[in-house]
Amino acid sequence: MRYFPVYLDLDGREVLIVGGGEKALQKLRLLAKTSARLRVVAEEIDEDIVALARERGVALVWHRFRPSDLAEVAMVFAAQDDAESDAKVAAAAKARGIQLNVVDGPRQSTFIMPAIVDRDPVVVAIGTEGSAPILAREIKAKIEAWLPANFGSVAARAMTLRRRVQEVLSDTVARRRTWERLLQGRWRSAVLAGDDEGAEREFDRQLDAAQSQGHLAGSVSLIGCGPGDPDLLTLKAQQRLQEADVLVVDRLVNPAILEYARRDALRIDAGKEPEGPSVAQEDINRILVREALKGQRVARLKGGDAFIFGRAAEEMAAVRAAGISVEVVPGITAAHACAASVSLPLTLRRQVRQFAVVTGASADGAFDLDWAAMAKEGQAFAIYMGVRSAPCFCDELLAAGAGAETPVVIVENGTLADERAVAAQLSQLPVAIADKGIKGPAIIFVGLDWAAAGLSRPDKLEVYEPAQATRRTRSRAEATPVTQG
Ligand SMILES: C[S@@+](CC[C@H](N)C(=O)[O-])C[C@H]1O[C@@H](n2cnc3c(N)ncnc32)[C@H](O)[C@@H]1O
Repeated sequence: MRYFPVYLDLDGREVLIVGGGEKALQKLRLLAKTSARLRVVAEEIDEDIVALARERGVALVWHRFRPSDLAEVAMVFAAQDDAESDAKVAAAAKARGIQLNVVDGPRQSTFIMPAIVDRDPVVVAIGTEGSAPILAREIKAKIEAWLPANFGSVAARAMTLRRRVQEVLSDTVARRRTWERLLQGRWRSAVLAGDDEGAEREFDRQLDAAQSQGHLAGSVSLIGCGPGDPDLLTLKAQQRLQEADVLVVDRLVNPAILEYARRDALRIDAGKEPEGPSVAQEDINRILVREALKGQRVARLKGGDAFIFGRAAEEMAAVRAAGISVEVVPGITAAHACAASVSLPLTLRRQVRQFAVVTGASADGAFDLDWAAMAKEGQAFAIYMGVRSAPCFCDELLAAGAGAETPVVIVENGTLADERAVAAQLSQLPVAIADKGIKGPAIIFVGLDWAAAGLSRPDKLEVYEPAQATRRTRSRAEATPVTQG
């Protein structure tokens, strides 16, 4: 971010526009909405500017720009029709450290102008750092269409009521909740409809309710955040993220997803220091209960879906045992997302009638799976956390009678920019993983193929060539204990 968006207080401050033509008029129209003191300097000034100046109270100075015009000026716009004259304004302004905008000259400017949606006092500024103004225009049009014309009246009215809320509710959490109810509910509708009496009644009702409520109950949402691509978040997950006072975040949650959360929400990393890479499950449970008991809305963010290899049940039980309300917001699990990303159907009407998810993680290296059932023809499953235990899976399945040529597909970092997908055969799985440098997180699909579905393999797929394969044999005892992959 080269340009940092800020809102400048121009109340009563002097702003100078150098130029008397169309460019100057455009800037003047915008600035006329502020409470700044405005001055236009030019040898010739168009009639439209003169008319606006009369209406709004703008000082007009009829001479060619001179550096002494900058005395007392907080901000200057160089809006003349020739670049040479603008360069003189720019040099004089920079020498005095005055904030400068050269119209159509972002590189000479010290600030640039965003596209603006004006619902005063709600003002939305949209910028692309000059890279694609058309995008800014498109976003502006969407926001303009979405925000009612009198939307600003809601914020203006809220401003007049702030003190009353503060006097009645000393607790900041209670205040925030009350404002949420007012600004998202009937009070806002009444203000927008111009129903002053209705708005007043609803305001009093909400304030009375908040006052009599006493200690606020906290809550916990166990939110599945999907495989990584923020576009795969559900609408409900987005909503809960925006409401949350506290975020307890897992290792595999894409940091881009946190952009949906409030900036002032407390973030607790449950996957890294200082709470530790090995933040024990009991400690996470304790954090959830501790924060919710303070009356906070806690969002527990998990990769994929919370109920698939996510230990959500343990968290749910701990939170419930403390008498706190808890909900689960489902997310798109890695197997579903990875399959979709490589267009690999997980079931087929005739050939694949069941699909399972299995874990390749084991605390003690032992896999208590029904290998014989999994090895049968027509079985399909996705292995989670299976990169390191792939040799063990390969050996067990082959020993149980699975075909050496059973198709396998490995999808690493599914839905993320560095996604990779490799197709191989079961007997090649460990060598394919090693040769292709797959580190995970990855999903390994077994028993699924595009051909059976009448589809062609996607172009982005890497195919592990059988000629490369030298089946690695290893004993079961070699399988190292695995916790993640
Ligand atoms: C502890 S499990 C959590 C699974 C998660 N709850 C879900 O529903 O996807 C972590 C495993 O999920 C899989 N995984 C998560 N995100 C992935 C991604 N973007 N691409 C491929 N596999 C992923 C990997 O197998 C990883 O080791």
